[in-house]
Amino acid sequence: MEDMLSAQEIASHCSPSSCWIVVDDKVYDVTSYLNEHPGGSAVLVKQGGTDATAEFRKIHSPDVLGYLPKDACLGTITAAARVALPISSASAESAAGADVAAELPHISSVVVANDFETVAKVVVPTKTWSYISSSANDGSSLRGNLASWAAVRFRPRIFRDVTTVDPQTSILGTVSAFPFYVSPMGQLGRGHPVRELGVAGLGRRGVHGVMSTESTAKMEGHRGRSS
Ligand code: HEM
Repeated sequence: MEDMLSAQEIASHCSPSSCWIVVDDKVYDVTSYLNEHPGGSAVLVKQGGTDATAEFRKIHSPDVLGYLPKDACLGTITAAARVALPISSASAESAAGADVAAELPHISSVVVANDFETVAKVVVPTKTWSYISSSANDGSSLRGNLASWAAVRFRPRIFRDVTTVDPQTSILGTVSAFPFYVSPMGQLGRGHPVRELGVAGLGRRGVHGVMSTESTAKMEGHRGRSS
């Protein structure tokens, strides 16, 4: 088995007739799944023979591996294979305008949410942009959210001693470290390698968050404040 899962052997299975990919140190023979893959066979063949973990995590929760045939997992790669194996550089998506990266404004001039949106539209891959910038159905909730944010006004105050300020409050009867919570956002892996685990990290700091069912990290992996 060790021989079979050497980097050289794995790398040779990179065609539609035999396609192996590595996710989280495990080798999967996805050949019989190619034509069933909802994202198409081409994207899997592109990852064939490589460690596709990073690309896989951008889009999928480990739960989707359950769709593969029972005998698809061929085993775990050796430590030597992990080092030698090519890491997939074939992104499942093409960036909308990677060539303009050099012209991006300095982060110090990207201040309000709209500024981030303008830059993101240029740099994030097209599918990711479509996903994160869209909304459900006719968009009334999205418009409502924007209107709610616009209605918030900060009352100007004279800056006084803030050493004992405590922003803790209560949301729906539960203590919250801050007067806000994080709404569910799906497919966070498309935007950042930390994925939904970042929201779970906020939970440990007393900020409530709601996990999306479209999570790219395993739901069981989210450990918030109460656990
Ligand atoms: C190895 C086992 C894999 C399985 C079992 C699998 C399964 C699935 C499933 C069930 C979907 C439908 C959408 C969903 O429920 O999330 C999907 C969509 C998709 N998958 Fe995979 N997938 C695998 C690997 C990969 C890899 C390695 C990539 C490339 C990085 C990939 C890229 C995509 C894309 C681009 C879509 C279309 C969804 C979209 O664009 O939003 N998949 N896959």
